[in-house]
Amino acid sequence: MRSKRFIAMAMVSMMALSMTACGGKTEEPATTEPAAETPAETPDAEPAADAAEDTADAAADAAGAGGNIGVCIYKFDDAFMTTYRNALQEILEGKGYTVTFMDGKNDQAEQNNQINNFIAQEVDALIINPVMTSAADQIITTVKDAGIPTVLINREPTAEQMAAYDKLVYVGCDARQSGTMQGELILDTENKGDINGDGKISYIMIQGDPENVDAQYRTEFSVKALTDAGMEVEELDLQRGDWDRNKGQEIAQNDLAKFGDEIEVVFCNNDDMAIGALQAIQAAGRKVNEDIYLVGVDALDAALNEVANGNMTGTVLNDAQGQAQGAVDAMEALLGGATYASGEQSIYVDYVKVTPENVADFQ
Ligand code: GAL
Repeated sequence: MRSKRFIAMAMVSMMALSMTACGGKTEEPATTEPAAETPAETPDAEPAADAAEDTADAAADAAGAGGNIGVCIYKFDDAFMTTYRNALQEILEGKGYTVTFMDGKNDQAEQNNQINNFIAQEVDALIINPVMTSAADQIITTVKDAGIPTVLINREPTAEQMAAYDKLVYVGCDARQSGTMQGELILDTENKGDINGDGKISYIMIQGDPENVDAQYRTEFSVKALTDAGMEVEELDLQRGDWDRNKGQEIAQNDLAKFGDEIEVVFCNNDDMAIGALQAIQAAGRKVNEDIYLVGVDALDAALNEVANGNMTGTVLNDAQGQAQGAVDAMEALLGGATYASGEQSIYVDYVKVTPENVADFQ
């Protein structure tokens, strides 16, 4: 389920394996085994890709002896990004890096200052979860001018934007996949989401921050999976919940009051909003999987419990551990001298569908 495509994509510069780019910290890493985290599960990998991987691994090992890393998170108060941040911290500190995390507080100006401060402190590499996807150009110009190897995470810029700097990589997921999987979770139910048998699936969509492609694509592709399967759909409501549990609860509560039994499916772009929606569903006396369906994305612990208990129809694993590992591996490849060609700067980790049948594998 974890992608190692990024290693194959790395254009490793053979001459640049020295530690000079790494800026001189000498702590021994507690562990230097990135390869162990990326199991040999790609039988179709080509020899050239293997060679690139070996070289990238060597680069990663060379760079793994410590260094100062600055990490900018769009806001600490985000359930999924908290899981992701903890995974990053564990991996980076385990490898002997000195890591500083900054809370962008959902404010791009604040995050710009944090990036500039990290540059002034001469960090060896940056990992940035942008506040605004629209700020990507400015962020890329800033890190390029400073010559800092940078991994962008979670909020994907366009390939054209990234092409401006060859020491820049994006690690994330293809949000279209998660949307499609949400639709499939509904299609897999006994009545394909048409609980009342009127020939159409009536749903509400609780969206994340619409500035974010994750929100755009999950919204689009969850419904597209239904229509592609020949189902008729009716959107009763679509509202932004900004990835936030309380907003998810409020939106679901209002919609349940307004549309009542008409609502057959509650699509939430993430689990935190789904947990909020579940509170509203339960308060309204509705029963998930009996008279309403509910799906999210992320596979937060709380959501996994609700899937296991039958209170959520399903969720989709947004692999924080895999993405954190991918981000660190890419960062180490950059520190080792790798450069990335235009069009090869995005590294994707697969999503995985989570249902009552397989939820135990994720708990
Ligand atoms: C998504 C995740 C959301 C939220 C968002 C922040 O990938 O599913 O829960 O964390 O990223 O950009």
